[in-house]
Amino acid sequence: MPQAPPAAPGLLSRALADARSPRVPRTVPYLPERAFPWGGPGLHPAGAGGGVDLDRVLRLSLAAPRKAGGRLRPVASAGALHPVRAHLLVGPGCSLPPGRYAYDPRAHRAHPRGRAPADAPPGAVVVLTVTAARTVAHYGHRAWPLLLLDAGHAAAALALAAAPGDVRVSLDADGEELAAAAGLPRAADRQTRRPGVESELPLVAIWLRSADALAPSTAPLTAWAALPCAAIPLPQPGAGGNATPRELFAARHLLTHLSAGADSTWHPAARPTPVTDETLRTRRSAPPSDLAHPPAPDLLARVLATAEGARPDGPAWAAAVGGDAPGLLTTAGPLATGDARPTLAHWAAGQRWIGTAGAVLVAHGCPADAPPSRIRRSHLAAGYAAGVAQAHAAALGLRSRPIGSWLQADLGAALGDAPGHDWIVHGLALAGPADPPPPAPPPLPGKEERP
Ligand SMILES: Cc1cc2nc3c(=O)[nH]c(=O)nc-3n(C[C@H](O)[C@H](O)[C@H](O)COP(=O)(O)O)c2cc1C
Repeated sequence: MPQAPPAAPGLLSRALADARSPRVPRTVPYLPERAFPWGGPGLHPAGAGGGVDLDRVLRLSLAAPRKAGGRLRPVASAGALHPVRAHLLVGPGCSLPPGRYAYDPRAHRAHPRGRAPADAPPGAVVVLTVTAARTVAHYGHRAWPLLLLDAGHAAAALALAAAPGDVRVSLDADGEELAAAAGLPRAADRQTRRPGVESELPLVAIWLRSADALAPSTAPLTAWAALPCAAIPLPQPGAGGNATPRELFAARHLLTHLSAGADSTWHPAARPTPVTDETLRTRRSAPPSDLAHPPAPDLLARVLATAEGARPDGPAWAAAVGGDAPGLLTTAGPLATGDARPTLAHWAAGQRWIGTAGAVLVAHGCPADAPPSRIRRSHLAAGYAAGVAQAHAAALGLRSRPIGSWLQADLGAALGDAPGHDWIVHGLALAGPADPPPPAPPPLPGKEERP
């Protein structure tokens, strides 16, 4: 398998330090979503083909809701920019006929991009890619970790929608193998072969295994990666965005370099009880002004345990609470006493509402000198865990909002350990529902209501 072009030594740790630095990005206002770049007629993903219902899974995770109601997608996204795209590698036993497809979330249609290999594994593999231009335009040099977090949230949304079916998620598949499997150009060809086409950087694979598979394969990308690169996207005016080309180029280069992997590992996904399809259909991030009420301690503990247990390969999680017993809690016991929320607000690019949020879950780890594989895994897994935790919180009646930009957030150093080893990479604010209104006073004597 050809490898992605090598990056200069130290490039990633410098880029990570820069993304975590107080340097303010030069940003442009919100850029609208571009037209779907894959041509040809699209197929509705509903069908009678078997156990994996792609219509249901996509509708609950990535499809733009028909009645928007202010929400662009079922899944959360930094800045509501939704940079994640999905390619469906459909084998036998699915609601779509076997083949490669690009998924159009706004039309909820799958665009055929070629045949399936004869030995395609039963079920469907969904390869998630990101297009960086709009997120880079909005967040500048802070964008690339957010793109990884976004891809993690999207992976969780798909996995939750597909569970309780047999779902496996890989956050470490080699980027070149992912690109080959999805029929996308490899890293070296991305810019040269497709002028006018925005690069898609593959990051994650989700395998929806069909229940009737007798002996499921253990390497679901292999057969797909052996196929030639299929139908190509249509060139689009202005692809590349209005972001400064240098930052966009840098973000793409970093994400490509991060994704050079070894053998992919596949971990099963589960839906926490009591998450239902309706929970996924109605999930929202609460506005900051609705997040000040503390969650009940037992519910907070359950959501924290979900975040902690969502992935075996992710960073650790802790919960900052205020009130009578302020502290930083973990599933194994208190990490520190005192109210950490004002410091978290300062670290989260000065978002003041975080200082009084009911509780703030934080994912932490990912040292300053972490190798590329760990930087990728930490951010993807943190986004994945926050996505699962947000769904769990919603099912328990809690409000929540992800928090993505963390600057100088060296939690380990703040707790007295050596600096540089334990940084916050993601967060999720949680709150209970507001107090119910006090009961109405009893009617005054002689003032009873008359029918
Ligand atoms: C990776 C990520 C980072 C985010 N960071 C922040 C943040 O720092 N502050 C904030 O107020 N909202 C943040 N959000 C929430 C988004 O603004 C929100 O998901 C988006 O506006 C879509 O709204 P919805 O979640 O209700 O669908 C983040 C979401 C994600 C997925």
